[in-house]
Amino acid sequence: MPSTGQGASAHDWWRTAAIYEVYVRSFADGNGDGVGDLAGVRARLPYLAELGIDAIWFAPWYPSPMADAGYDVADYRAIEPLFGSLAEAEKLITEAHDLGIRIIIDVVPNHGSDQQPWFARALAAPPGSAERSRYHFRPGRGPGGELPPNDWTSMFGGPAWTRTPSAEPTAGPSAGERADGAPGEWYLHLFTPGQPDFNWAHPDVRAEFASVLRFWFDRGVDGLRIDSAALLAKDPGLADLGATPTPGSSAPVGTAPASAVAPAGAAGEPDGPHPFIDRDEVHEIYQEWRRIADSYRGDRVLIGEVWLPDAQRLARYLLPDELHSVFNFDFLCCAWDAAALRGVIDTTLDAHDRVGATPTWVLSNHDVVRHVTRYGRADTAFSMTDRQIGEPSDLALGTRRARAAALLTFSLPGGVYLYQGDELGLPEVEDLPEELLQDPMWERSGHTNRGRDGCRVPLPWSGDAAPFGYGPEGSSPWLPQPAEWKNLTAEAQSGDPGSMLSLYRRALRLRRAEPGLGTAGLAWLPSPDGVLCFRRGEGPAAVTVIVNLSAEPVDLPPHGEILLSSGPVSGSLLPPDTAAWLR
Ligand code: GLC
Repeated sequence: MPSTGQGASAHDWWRTAAIYEVYVRSFADGNGDGVGDLAGVRARLPYLAELGIDAIWFAPWYPSPMADAGYDVADYRAIEPLFGSLAEAEKLITEAHDLGIRIIIDVVPNHGSDQQPWFARALAAPPGSAERSRYHFRPGRGPGGELPPNDWTSMFGGPAWTRTPSAEPTAGPSAGERADGAPGEWYLHLFTPGQPDFNWAHPDVRAEFASVLRFWFDRGVDGLRIDSAALLAKDPGLADLGATPTPGSSAPVGTAPASAVAPAGAAGEPDGPHPFIDRDEVHEIYQEWRRIADSYRGDRVLIGEVWLPDAQRLARYLLPDELHSVFNFDFLCCAWDAAALRGVIDTTLDAHDRVGATPTWVLSNHDVVRHVTRYGRADTAFSMTDRQIGEPSDLALGTRRARAAALLTFSLPGGVYLYQGDELGLPEVEDLPEELLQDPMWERSGHTNRGRDGCRVPLPWSGDAAPFGYGPEGSSPWLPQPAEWKNLTAEAQSGDPGSMLSLYRRALRLRRAEPGLGTAGLAWLPSPDGVLCFRRGEGPAAVTVIVNLSAEPVDLPPHGEILLSSGPVSGSLLPPDTAAWLR
């Protein structure tokens, strides 16, 4: 395995890795059916190698009815036929490894699909049966059981419960929805009805996922991104949420009001544990997973999608016997504001330091508004509960800031995550026709939240018109690409030294090559208000990073050379919304 990224050893590769998220449906379409696939990814592996990443994280690639774009998994040991086959995935893993790129796959343990054999058997079995106990089935409240068992709401809006039929139920394409309202038990789904939550107190569930982990590790997969990782354990009594205190800055994916998802006092705290977020029992699960990962040479990694407002609670997932790393959503959600960013950076470093874990930094993913668009708005922060769709955005400003943000992100100590299209500077597509929207958020929010399709539009690779090389000439991508993207194709940007793609390539290369950027920790240097300035490394290898988030040009600190800047630098003045790496 040639690449380890920066100064990390092959064993610790993840500590400094640049990990690129591939959202398969929208990356590249090899067969022309409008949906991205593994053939498309395989053809673009050289592009990813040239970009300078260390690993690919694949959003779910399993067979799925796509109630939630693949996060409703029908078979954890196979590949969605629209994407390809298991044999093709195995080839892809080998080809990526040959190029020095590691492979991380998404595992979705909180919930399955209503099309999974286990769920079909549960529906066909009577209340109280062993088959139903792998999920959370309960009788309803009210005289006829016509009310949901408790007051939990789905992350995508609407109730977290769907009622099943009482007699001779059958599992069809939308068994959960069709059954709703019929006089039977209810089942829990924190997301769509097509995603029934597993009962993690059941030994079958634990054994099944232990086996799934081994299945993929045996095939050479280097790591797992664990979906909705803080939600698996539920209060055995499924207690009502009731009134909940004010949440912190992060919330799980969805449209549910913050009060419905906020920890009501984190587990073990005076208010008692939340009935489904961040319960203590969840840690036993990851301790078991860590033992499995460590039984494979010790270089397989577990990465948690953990949205928690409290950095110290988050750090508990990073103890040496649990996950290797978690996404830093506080950094992603933070406004383009020097004081706020510095606060998040300090809190992150401190919380990770205490448990000996490596921080990570991320600006975008398949769930959030693309940061070029966010940073061009009046309010530059991101909130899952208010996506600000349609709020005006100055995309030239957003792009300038996104360039500076890339240099900031890539110069912080730890690992980084990129989302496909970040390197092309793609904006959010905010004007997709309503009839094409596929994200369940749109329907379940009663058409008040357009959801996440705008960051999932297929990538523009080449040419002057759609499908921009995403698929063969004449094919129609599953979501339409804006005509303006002809200026943002990988081809158009490749030869342009001033493009976002060129900046990403240079920054990722330097990040690997500069020993100062591979060290732990950072030292803040004095700087005016609105400016972030810090040093990485010591002595001749030290790199000084400066980011000007103020409205005025600022003096560069003393330096010998500018290694890289996100925009033009005139003399010794760094313009607003510009970053530079100095020696
Ligand atoms: C995670 C995924 C998101 C999905 C949800 C339910 O937050 O990132 O896309 O909808 O989990 O699986």
